[in-house]
Amino acid sequence: MSTFPIFLRQLLRTTAFSTALPLLALAQENAEPAASSEEEVMKAVRMHAYGGLEVLQFEDAPRPQPNDDQILIRIIAAGVNPVDAKIRQGMFARMMGTKLPLIPGLDVSGIVEEAGANVTKFKPGDAVYACLGFGTQGGYAEYAVAKESEASPKPKGLNHEGAAAMPVAAATAWQALIEIANVSQGQTVLIHGGSGGVGVFAIQIAKARGAKVIATASAANQEFMRELGADRAIDYNATKFEEVVKDVDVVLDSVAGETLQRSYGVVKKGGIIVSLLEPPDKAELDARGIRGTAFMVSPNASLLSDLSKLVEAKKLKPVVSKTFPLAEAAKAQEAIETGHTRGKIVLRVADEPKG
Ligand SMILES: NC(=O)c1ccc[n+]([C@@H]2O[C@H](COP(=O)([O-])OP(=O)(O)OC[C@H]3O[C@@H](n4cnc5c(N)ncnc54)[C@H](OP(=O)(O)O)[C@@H]3O)[C@@H](O)[C@H]2O)c1
Repeated sequence: MSTFPIFLRQLLRTTAFSTALPLLALAQENAEPAASSEEEVMKAVRMHAYGGLEVLQFEDAPRPQPNDDQILIRIIAAGVNPVDAKIRQGMFARMMGTKLPLIPGLDVSGIVEEAGANVTKFKPGDAVYACLGFGTQGGYAEYAVAKESEASPKPKGLNHEGAAAMPVAAATAWQALIEIANVSQGQTVLIHGGSGGVGVFAIQIAKARGAKVIATASAANQEFMRELGADRAIDYNATKFEEVVKDVDVVLDSVAGETLQRSYGVVKKGGIIVSLLEPPDKAELDARGIRGTAFMVSPNASLLSDLSKLVEAKKLKPVVSKTFPLAEAAKAQEAIETGHTRGKIVLRVADEPKG
C-alpha cells in the first residue's frame, strides 16, 4: 500500500494544499488555428489560459470528429467535478501536457451521433454516458468524442442529468470502497464528506455491501446523509469524530489535512484509510498496524456498466442538487469550488430527449 508512485504522491499533495499555484508559468500560448469556413462548429465552454473563473469562455468551437475507434456524443448533460476547477487553475497542467484552448469536463451523458468504423458496441441514436479521457477535450460542449472503452449505455430509468452526475464520483466511491478496501458485510466504514459528490455514492455503495456506515458533513446535511443510508451522521463542526468513533474497518477520506491526521486513531488494527487527496503517512500507518493509500480514479466502460446495474437495481441513485445552463459553467465551477455543495452539480447542454 505504500508503493504509490512518487510523482502522484507529490501531485496529490499539491492538489490538496495548493490554492494559489503560480499559474502564469503554466499558461500556454498555442493559439488554435481559426476554424475554416467548412468546419462544423458547436457551442462550448473553453479556457484559453489557466486561471480564475474568468478564463472560462462560452463560444463557438470546432465540432470534434470521431476517429475509427471513437463515438461522437451529442451531449445532453455534463457533470461538474472539483477536479474541473483544479484543472482550470493549472494544477495538472504539467502532467496533462494539454494544449490550450481546452474544453473542461470529464462526465457526459448524451446520444451517439456517429460511430467510428471499428466501434462495435454503439450505433447512432444510442443513449450513453461516459468519462472522457483526462486531458482530452471535454464535456462542457454540445459534442464530444469518446473511446468505446470510455462509454457505457446510460442506466435505464435515469435521465441524462442523473447519468452525467455519475462517472467520476460514483467510480471513485466504487474503486475506493470495493476495489481497494474490499468492504464486506458487517464492517464499519467512516466516510468523510458524506454529502458531497463522492460521499453520496460512497454511503450507498457501502450500505449496499452490508456495511455499517458513519458519515461526516455539516449540520445542514445530517438528515440528508441518514436518508441516503448512513447509520450515523456526524456534524464535523459540532463533534470531533475521533471522540465518538473507534475501531472502524475503513475510512474514506476526501477532506485531507487535519481530518486525515485525526483519522489514523479511529481505524482498527488491519483496517485501511483510502484517501482521495493526500497520501496517508507511512509512519503513522505502521505505528498503528493499519494500512493506507491514496489513489486517482480511473473509470472505464466496464465499471460504468457495473454502476448502471446498481442504479437499475435501485441500490444506487445520483443526487443532482443544482443544474446550470452550459453558458453558465463558470457559475457551476464557482459553486463546486466552495467544497460545500450537496451531491452533484450538472450542466444542462440540451433538452432531455422525449420518451
Ligand atoms: N483521487 C481521486 O481520484 C478523486 C476523485 C474524486 C474526487 N476527488 C477529490 O475529493 C474531494 C471531494 O470530492 P467531491 O466531488 O466529493 O467534492 P464535493 O462535492 O465538493 O463535496 C465535498 C464534501 O465535503 C464535505 N466537507 C467539507 N469540509 C468537511 C470536513 N471538514 N469534514 C467532513 N466533510 C467535509 C462537504 O459537506 P458540507 O457541505 O456539509 O460541508 C461536502 O459534502 C475533492 O477534493 C476532489 O477533487 C479525488
